[in-house]
Amino acid sequence: MSVHSSASVKRITTHTLQEMKHRGEKISMLTAYDYSMAKIVDAAGMDIILVGDSASNVMAGHETTLPITLDQMIYHASAVVRAVKRSFIVVDIPFGSYQGNSSEALRSAIRIMKESGAHAVKVEGGSEIKESVVRILSAGVPVMGHLGLTPQSIYKFGTYTVRAKEEAEANKLVEDAKMLEACGCFAIVLEKIPATLAKKVSEAVNIPVIGIGAGPDVDGQVLVMHDMLGITQEFKPRFLRQYADLQSVMMTAFESYIKDVKSKDFPSLSESY
Ligand code: KIV
Repeated sequence: MSVHSSASVKRITTHTLQEMKHRGEKISMLTAYDYSMAKIVDAAGMDIILVGDSASNVMAGHETTLPITLDQMIYHASAVVRAVKRSFIVVDIPFGSYQGNSSEALRSAIRIMKESGAHAVKVEGGSEIKESVVRILSAGVPVMGHLGLTPQSIYKFGTYTVRAKEEAEANKLVEDAKMLEACGCFAIVLEKIPATLAKKVSEAVNIPVIGIGAGPDVDGQVLVMHDMLGITQEFKPRFLRQYADLQSVMMTAFESYIKDVKSKDFPSLSESY
C-alpha cells in the first residue's frame, strides 16, 4: 500500500486526468461511500473516488439506484471528502434531481459541491439531459457523463444486459459522447457496452473515457467497491474481477467473536480494567 503523507500529496484534478489520457496512463477509479473506506482507497493511490448512487444498493439495500435522495448522497459524499487527501472525488446526482429541469439540476449540483466539498458531479444520459449538463457546467462545476447501461433508467431498459449492441443505439452513443465533450464534460463513464464500441468512443473524444464492462481499450476502469472486495457475493457479472473475498474473512471474524463471547473466552483478564 502506498501511503501519501499530507506534505507530499499532490491532488488529482481534471487537468491531471486529461494529461493521463494524453500520456496513455490508465486512470483508476473506485466507488466509496464512507470515511473509513475512502481513507484506505485514497491511501492506496486511487485516481478517482466515485461516491456512486450504487450506495442505494450496497449501503442501503435497495434493489435499484432510484430511491437514494440528494440529502443521502450529500451525507455519503461529505464523509468521503473528510477522508481524502489526493483522489479526485466525483458524486452522482441522484435520480429525479436533474432530469428534465435544468434549474433543478443546477441547484442539485451546487448543493453537492457546497455541502459536501466534492470536486465534480456525474450524470447519466446523453442528448436528453443536454440542457441540464450545460447549465451545471455554466456554474463552473465539472461534470462527468455516463452512457451505455445507465442504472437510473433501468425501468426503461427492463434488464441489466449489454447496451448498444444494435447499430442505431451504438451510433447514438458515439454522438452523445461527442456532444458531452463539446458541452465541456471532463470525462465520460461507459457502462456495459461492447469493447469495440468503447474503443471507438475513446478514440473519438479527447476527454478521458472510464469503462465498467467496456473492455480494455478505454482510458481507465471503475468498479463498485463492495463487488471487487467480494462483500456482495450475489452480483457476479462477467466484467467484475473480484480482488478479495471479504465476505468470508468477515464471516470468520464474526463467528469467532460470537464463539468467544458465548464461551466466555472474551474478554480475558488482560482485556479488562
Ligand atoms: O453508482 C455507481 O457506482 C456508478 C458506477 C457503476 C460507474 O455509477
